[in-house]
Amino acid sequence: MTTQPLNYQPMPPRVQVPAHPVWPALSEHEKDDLKQRIKDLLRAQNAVLVAHYYVDGDLQALAEETGGCVADSLEMARYGTTTDADTLVVCGVRFMGETAKILNPEKRVLMPDLSATCSLDEGCPDDLFNAFCDANPDRTVVVYANTSAAVKARADWMVTSGIALPIVRHLHEKGEKILWAPDKHLGRYVQQQTGADILLWDGSCVVHEEFKGFALERLKRLHPEAAILVHPESPEDVLAQADVVGSTTALIKAVADMPNDEFIVATDDGIFWKMHQLAPGKKLISAPTAGVGATCESCAHCPWMAKNALQNLEQVLRTGENAIDVDPAIRVDAVRSIQRMLDFAASHNISGALPGR
Ligand code: 13P
Ligand code: SF4
Repeated sequence: MTTQPLNYQPMPPRVQVPAHPVWPALSEHEKDDLKQRIKDLLRAQNAVLVAHYYVDGDLQALAEETGGCVADSLEMARYGTTTDADTLVVCGVRFMGETAKILNPEKRVLMPDLSATCSLDEGCPDDLFNAFCDANPDRTVVVYANTSAAVKARADWMVTSGIALPIVRHLHEKGEKILWAPDKHLGRYVQQQTGADILLWDGSCVVHEEFKGFALERLKRLHPEAAILVHPESPEDVLAQADVVGSTTALIKAVADMPNDEFIVATDDGIFWKMHQLAPGKKLISAPTAGVGATCESCAHCPWMAKNALQNLEQVLRTGENAIDVDPAIRVDAVRSIQRMLDFAASHNISGALPGR
């Protein structure tokens, strides 16, 4: 089993993390009004909401009420290809909107805020990534969904956290060596679980990177009956303490299925909305991001996911602004790596959806 350190220079750029947006508080009446306008606009435009579990609970509820989808990134990608809506309104981050557009070029894809990006995507610019691939031509290129369309265009496979293990296991069994980008924690976890020969890009998620193993140990002592649920973008010493490691869908399923009454959760706390919905009596505790003297900029909540709100959702539906566009020359290559993942998921019966949804 080998994990080779990143041996290609230059190092990826440091990512600027935006402040969390502060949305003006809405009265219940204003909120209901806004929701009704959004519902009317969705119906009039044959549009559906495709939302991630990390966005505001009001948006997740609205997506469900209006027949759209709330899911992890694997199911968000698949869902867009199955609906007959003319417009997909993706409430999440930019790579999710781009993936939807790449898979559904004939559909209009809107997003509440086009600047809602991701530190993994930002930390993997396509020019440096191409140079990394050029320097390692003997490796199969596997990229995480959290990347730009241009990076996906260079990849052989795109994966999400929900399907990374079986795909890499499959490649390893065929004797392929892998170049992995951009999340080093997920990449290391996949390497350890599969034994594959993986060369890692040096990227990380600013939200999950902040979870601290030493503080989790202390919290665990205070809640000995709690199960620990960890998204694999988290650091190694946090993953080592997990009872369950998995995609957002897998973590939600664990809360619903496990007998425990308490859970310590190491991922974005936007996920609590769905966890509470499926397991209303259970106690959810955010994994610690540091402790005394904490300096985290994005404590358990993604600043880019937080750019999605009822207000800008209504605005894009009303104005048609913020349509996602992907260069057709990039699209033809990017679609191959994404479709390969969806085909693998279909043929191996792997789903990012919660059972019964
Ligand atoms: P999932 O595919 O597990 O939903 O993860 C997406 C993501 O961005 C996690 O930070
Ligand atoms: Fe990217 Fe992390 Fe935000 Fe997920 S939580 S979108 S990986 S920055």
